[in-house]
Amino acid sequence: MFDSGLIAYLKKALKVAVLTGAGVSAESGVPTFRGKEGLWKKFKPEELANFDSFMKNPDIVWEWYAFRKKMMSEVHPNPGHHSLVKMEEYYPDFTLITQNIDNLHRIAGSKNILELHGNIRRNYCLDCGRQYDDEQLQMGKTAPRCECGGLIRPDVVWFGEMLPQDILNAAFRAAEECEVFFSLGTSALVSPASMLPMIAKTANALLIEINPEETELTKAVDHHLQGPSGEILPQLIQEMGI
Ligand code: OAD
Repeated sequence: MFDSGLIAYLKKALKVAVLTGAGVSAESGVPTFRGKEGLWKKFKPEELANFDSFMKNPDIVWEWYAFRKKMMSEVHPNPGHHSLVKMEEYYPDFTLITQNIDNLHRIAGSKNILELHGNIRRNYCLDCGRQYDDEQLQMGKTAPRCECGGLIRPDVVWFGEMLPQDILNAAFRAAEECEVFFSLGTSALVSPASMLPMIAKTANALLIEINPEETELTKAVDHHLQGPSGEILPQLIQEMGI
């Protein structure tokens, strides 16, 4: 099904980096942001996913996150997530860079993960910085408070906020140093994550995209494997014999 040259190249590569986006979790039942069923069609992100809104209406923003936390706690990794675990076991140097906050890569068993946009299962106090897992908090309709009295927020990157610098630097490094870069299930529109595939290509990596649709990136990639990642990735690793 795949180009035999591609399979041979993938089998020989040593350093591989992968960028995942919401599409990788679509087959698990997590809605993507853009596209036909995109979450941002129903909610205006700038009204909810930002710091000022949280300070003005912490309960409303928290309730939206409590809804998404519950939804994401009820879903399971799909064959795409599991294939990435197998790839990590196969390659001596494998970095999984994700824009997803749903924790599904961790649940699947991936280890070397760079979470660019945070993780919805984690939370921290705005005043003292104490970290809380969801299990330690009451998931009601009001934003929880820390023992110190401070407001607790989800540990995710909101609009207008900086990405964690150390994680971003590690992602840039992985993109610069890899021989193969996969862009999976992302519209490749949100910066700085969207810069990573082109950084890899400029550094001579083979650039592969898996997506049922064409994206801003498609024209620049070496291989566009069209289809859902939960189907294409298992087929790909099967042909590689891993
Ligand atoms: P998008 O919703 O922008 O794009 C999802 C992509 O997944 C689209 O290109 C779809 O065609 C593709 N897709 C859909 N189903 C798929 C499947 N089964 N397999 C593979 N691909 C599929 O999501 P992201 O690119 O992840 O940021 O969005 C980037 C960021 O925008 C998010 O991390 C979020 C949002 O604002 C923050 O919240 C900070």
